[in-house]
Amino acid sequence: MRDWLIALPKAELHIHLEGALEPELLFSLAQRNRVALPWADIDALRAAYQYRDLQAFLDLYYQGAQVLQTAQDFYDLTWAYLKQSAAQGMVHTEPFFDPQTHTERGIALPVVLEGIQAALADGRRELGVSSGLILSFLRHLPEAAAMQTLEAALPYRDAFIAVGLDSSEAGFPPRLFERVFARARAEGLPGVAHAGEEGPPEYIWEALECLQVRRIDHGVRACEDERLVQHLVDIQMPLTVCPLSNQRLQVFPRLAEHPILKMLERGLNVSVNSDDPAYFGGYVGDNFVALHEHLGMTRGQAGRLAENSLAAALAPRG
Ligand code: ADE
Ligand code: ZN
Repeated sequence: MRDWLIALPKAELHIHLEGALEPELLFSLAQRNRVALPWADIDALRAAYQYRDLQAFLDLYYQGAQVLQTAQDFYDLTWAYLKQSAAQGMVHTEPFFDPQTHTERGIALPVVLEGIQAALADGRRELGVSSGLILSFLRHLPEAAAMQTLEAALPYRDAFIAVGLDSSEAGFPPRLFERVFARARAEGLPGVAHAGEEGPPEYIWEALECLQVRRIDHGVRACEDERLVQHLVDIQMPLTVCPLSNQRLQVFPRLAEHPILKMLERGLNVSVNSDDPAYFGGYVGDNFVALHEHLGMTRGQAGRLAENSLAAALAPRG
């Protein structure tokens, strides 16, 4: 079953490239770029991968991203992610990157894009993995900063397929970003947004109504609002669920209590994704295997989850 799940062709629709930075690469980039790290060695860094909540993880994730400085660094990061995931059955991916994490510390957007785009092109050619990049705004920063980021990115419009919204959720509702998502839509860029990870079901309503998103990232807290669940079923809104992430960030501390299969059986359009594979201990195929081991997911259910991922892609496949 494990081999079958790994080989199953699947798309990944919720992965942050900065979250694919494995400790080994993090240390080697720190050395290459002469960045001082607060951890003595790789083992000490791995030991820090225990999170009481989303913010505890994000603090570490933003710190780790400081080692990314040159186009080659972004290439190496993206290429390592593609190779690892292609070996787990991934045939298509729509990764996020957070431009503000890099531009805020003086790394120019074209440098970031050059490395990521070159790796995605090699992924298409050498691994047969099709892709589309999503520019994600940091919601703990003001909408004006997101708008500036979008304007600075528009000269590279063809590099993106959509815009996203991530980072600290509680206290930063989607409605705060209504104008920047409208501006992106006017440029032909659809939106997706993290909602209902730690935040309440109202944030999912807002992502739908204020941001007019095409997918909800996470969305697991929809289960607390039956009217919302019925609406999401009716419109077949894709929810990009990340089981190992939810476990590690204490959204569902026991994987056996994760609702993804109940959501699938309820008619919700759910898929399986890794979120931040280096930080949460598994790539997309590993998430499928964990669902089999902890929730008894059947082949039929796995097949439907994989089909949902392929059907919810925004970028053309192949
Ligand atoms: N950025 C990277 N991973 C994230 C997550 N799980 N939620 C919100 N922002 C993120
Ligand atoms: Zn995420």
